[in-house]
Amino acid sequence: MADRARVGILLSGRGSNMQALVAASRAADARYEVVLVASDKPEAPGLAWAAGQGIATFAASPKGRPKPEYEAEIDAALTGAGVEVIALAGYMRLLSPEFVARWAGRILNIHPSLLPKYKGLDTHARAIAAGDTVAGASVHLVTEALDDGPVIAQAEVPVEPGDTPDTLAARVLAAEHRLYPAALDRFLST
Ligand code: GAR
Repeated sequence: MADRARVGILLSGRGSNMQALVAASRAADARYEVVLVASDKPEAPGLAWAAGQGIATFAASPKGRPKPEYEAEIDAALTGAGVEVIALAGYMRLLSPEFVARWAGRILNIHPSLLPKYKGLDTHARAIAAGDTVAGASVHLVTEALDDGPVIAQAEVPVEPGDTPDTLAARVLAAEHRLYPAALDRFLST
């Protein structure tokens, strides 16, 4: 079997997409393994889950210090773990242009909208307010700008009558969990 790509995941919270990526990486034919889960929030539940799975974890809080210093620590942890590709999974902090440049073409993100629609926050409320009948999620390559960069995969779900941001978020999230592992696997095959 060919060597698997070494993937590092950055997250800020719950980590359900990270869990989906880890679960898929355990398939016999997966093209990647998750070698590090890192966070800007030491208390992120996703970090504790990963540690419980025996995955290496790292946390660096950016509070009260310059971004370059904080990012250098994250970078060192990723490099030290031999990470080749970074998957952002609910990492709610904009990476600096310098960090993105160092990992150019090797950072993916998942975003809960059909990009280019609804970059940023409150995507589901905005989709409902706009009267959209279709919502979804996108996986894209990360560039300097927020939720920008070439889209490599999307999944659509219907917006149902009576949907609230929460009910729509749950439907989109389930789609995210299928989309992200498949998109990462396909990205690694090219
Ligand atoms: C996901 O819905 C993800 O698409 C979104 O945060 C959530 C994280 O959930 N990401 C963004 O909004 C990035 N701009 P999770 O921690 O359970 O994976």
